[in-house]
Amino acid sequence: MRSLFRSLIIAALMISSCTSTKKGSNSAIGPSFDLQGHRGARGLMPENTIPAMKVAIDHGVTTVELDVVISKDNKVVVSHDPYFNELITTTPEGKHLTKKEAEELVLYQMMYDEIKKYDVGLKPHPNFPKQQKIKVHKPLLSELIDSVEDYAKSKGKSIRYNIEIKSKKSGDGVNHPAPENFSELVLAVIKGKNILNRTTIQSFDIRPLQYIHKAHPVVTLSYLVEKTTQSIEDQFAALGFQPQTYSPNYAILTKEAVAYCHQRKIKVLPWTVNNLSEMNKLIELGVDGIISDYPDLFAQLGVRK
Ligand code: G3P
Ligand code: CA
Repeated sequence: MRSLFRSLIIAALMISSCTSTKKGSNSAIGPSFDLQGHRGARGLMPENTIPAMKVAIDHGVTTVELDVVISKDNKVVVSHDPYFNELITTTPEGKHLTKKEAEELVLYQMMYDEIKKYDVGLKPHPNFPKQQKIKVHKPLLSELIDSVEDYAKSKGKSIRYNIEIKSKKSGDGVNHPAPENFSELVLAVIKGKNILNRTTIQSFDIRPLQYIHKAHPVVTLSYLVEKTTQSIEDQFAALGFQPQTYSPNYAILTKEAVAYCHQRKIKVLPWTVNNLSEMNKLIELGVDGIISDYPDLFAQLGVRK
């Protein structure tokens, strides 16, 4: 009887271990793993728009990633580029633009009422053929937050924001305000919408990160790195402080960098990972989340709820 009981327990344990490996191939992924929709869900909907954020939420992201710039009237506008990108823009007259024409339309030199007249959702995107085509404008950050909050609430969810300040030294005063002013404008919107405790500010530009760290130490910060010849130690030495997150281009991420960050309790969040095999390799490496244009792929990672 006792041996029958023992056999039953062993069988139950075997079944349960088979089920958990089948559920997802990555036992390392837990409920705190951060699934981020890049520019909302760029592979599926026009980038950095409200519909893209909603689709990302539909696909179960924990965080929406987006980029911000500043208009001439100092409004915080959701946009990756400091000008209208010819790949996604249709003018108010219904025309497409050459690269040169588009880059002359600098958002920091335009009032938001004018920016709003341009469409950024109708033109087929050469790199994202699955992207649904809809008429849509570049939203204000405030407008986007209102919509995301309402939509998430209607689905019984609470969403985090990973907001990128798009600046570089050569663009100061031309494409955007100086880092202090840029940071203050963005933080004023975030504080006004009461989402600071669910927001990370990210940037490739170390200046806004350094400014916010000093002036607003409670703000969660993420250090973006695209390509570098610097060691991980030198990258952090250049920043001069320890942010909550290190967010590299996934192609440059090494096991040593993950270990360096984790020893210091810094999270590792690679971008922009658009296929399952790369996602799985990064999960094996021990990353704390993934940023993807295709949040529809996340369901196949087997994240434990
Ligand atoms: O979150 C990082 C990632 O968004 C950086 O790339 O150029 O798409 O803003 P980019
Ligand atoms: Ca970004």
